[in-house]
Amino acid sequence: MVSSQPSRSGSQPGSQPWWRGATVYQIYPRSFADSGGDGIGDLPGIRARLADLAWIGIDAVWLSPFYPSPMVDFGYDVSDYCDVDPLFGTLDDFDGLVADAHALGIRVIIDWVPNHTSDAHPWFADACSGPDSARRNWYVWRDPAPDGGPPNNWTAAFEAGAPAWTFDAGSGQWYLHLFEAAQPDLNWDEPDVEKAMHDVLRFWFDRGVDGIRADVIHCIGKDPALPDDPPEVAGIPHSALNDVAVTHGRLRHIRDLVDAYPGDRVVVGEVYLLSSAAVATYYGNGDELHLSFNFPPLYARWEASAWRRCLEDTTSAFDPRHAWPTWVLSNHDNPRHRSRYDLGAAWSGEDEATRGRRSEARARAAAVLLMTLRGTPFVFQGEELGLIDAVVPPERRVDPGGRDGCRAPIPWDGSTSHGWPVDDGGSTWLPFPPESASRNYSAQRGDPGSVLHLYRRLLQLRKAAPALRWGSQELLVAPEGVLAYGRADGDGRWTVLVNFTDGVVGVDDLGAEVGHDAAPPVVEVASDRTGEGSPFSGRLLPDQAVVLRAGSSGGAGSTRPGSGRAASSAGSSGALLSN
Ligand code: NOJ
Repeated sequence: MVSSQPSRSGSQPGSQPWWRGATVYQIYPRSFADSGGDGIGDLPGIRARLADLAWIGIDAVWLSPFYPSPMVDFGYDVSDYCDVDPLFGTLDDFDGLVADAHALGIRVIIDWVPNHTSDAHPWFADACSGPDSARRNWYVWRDPAPDGGPPNNWTAAFEAGAPAWTFDAGSGQWYLHLFEAAQPDLNWDEPDVEKAMHDVLRFWFDRGVDGIRADVIHCIGKDPALPDDPPEVAGIPHSALNDVAVTHGRLRHIRDLVDAYPGDRVVVGEVYLLSSAAVATYYGNGDELHLSFNFPPLYARWEASAWRRCLEDTTSAFDPRHAWPTWVLSNHDNPRHRSRYDLGAAWSGEDEATRGRRSEARARAAAVLLMTLRGTPFVFQGEELGLIDAVVPPERRVDPGGRDGCRAPIPWDGSTSHGWPVDDGGSTWLPFPPESASRNYSAQRGDPGSVLHLYRRLLQLRKAAPALRWGSQELLVAPEGVLAYGRADGDGRWTVLVNFTDGVVGVDDLGAEVGHDAAPPVVEVASDRTGEGSPFSGRLLPDQAVVLRAGSSGGAGSTRPGSGRAASSAGSSGALLSN
């Protein structure tokens, strides 16, 4: 049993909870690091790499599921919520991981999958044993429709048009599954289900975890009448539509349970509704989710106007509720953002050579955006290396949702097996991403100009600048193709400029607007390092993003990581080193 706590205090200065100022790193355990040689990552593998994450400056890790599972949905089909699948290790390994992470000042968030179990879970086996079984009502059963078909028109995720229902010949009823048939939905209307899932939370919080990422949390309440989805959205997986009032009371119960623990534990909800306004309601009145994923920005095109709209929509939906946003560009369910932006460029007619030239530049600019927006950024393992998706040949495809490419193993070094101790003749469960011989962790760690170092410098800057962690944010008028915003906190003022175009853009007139009138703003971080430490030239290079520190009228020092100069102090416009 782990009793360790992170070495940093639960709350940050100014009584901000830690998760507002944190950068969270998503680990997909199968693909992160292996200790055993079976080509599948595991908990000891993660443990051995925690120091590398601390070096980057990560504040918390979110571990995708590592529980016993038949792996139909690679762990999101849980057959025992309170153990570790032997593929990944043991509970002792987990405890050791939490202790090591805490010793390094890294918090641990785990995935909690409350909407469905695996069909191999003993609860479901009992439910299937007959209509009178003790746990029959733990799942959602309905009689057939009059024509003998599924009870309603809901469709499941993954396979276009597949019904969200499977017929159980034994009982003559259908059971609901918003995902695979092997992932039956739990019935949260049954009080014992709520109680059992709360017990799961207690099991892990008692072991010392700092938070949970709650899988499709907006789905734990369903309209008891199970009405058909309206014709205009029929065919869209119901998991992307389910939005009913009863869920909010259940979130308040979860929140009460979690807030009773010391140390600002956090619930990050996956609310997969493609509207920021709808997502915001899941924060309640500060009494439901602490944080929620917000998918419209993840799906936004790499265009200044699209991102401007995302910022406006998020601000107008979240601010009135004092809800704290999250920002996510990539995760284990979607093509990596560098791959998506490359694809978007191809669709808009960009030729191959130009795409090749701009690809990494766009990923670098996206890193600056992610790390400087007001809210909690989530980094998906490997994006800090600028990875693109693996090309997975048909015979190696394994995921029912077609998501293998983004789940490729992390290349740790340039050797043939990229730091994975694969047994003789074996291979990793998925192929490595392209360019792994050169684009890998150890090569980039040794190269100060790498994407990895850019992420590290941005993380260091966030830590040094309260304004970038929890300051205000103001959208600024900017030339076509440029997104501009200011961040401020007390005397600290910053301007971020992101050039989404392939051309040089002049932004001379921004200075007065953001109050950079005393002295020209200084380039603290540039996505391509150009001009760092110098007054901003007023020109953005193609695909360049810059973080500008307000010019000082009183001799503020640089906070630039590694600059060696003293941090500015109160009264100047520079940032304060606060930890
Ligand atoms: C969302 C998870 O992110 C995804 O990987 C999973 O397939 C579904 N929920 C079902 O659990």
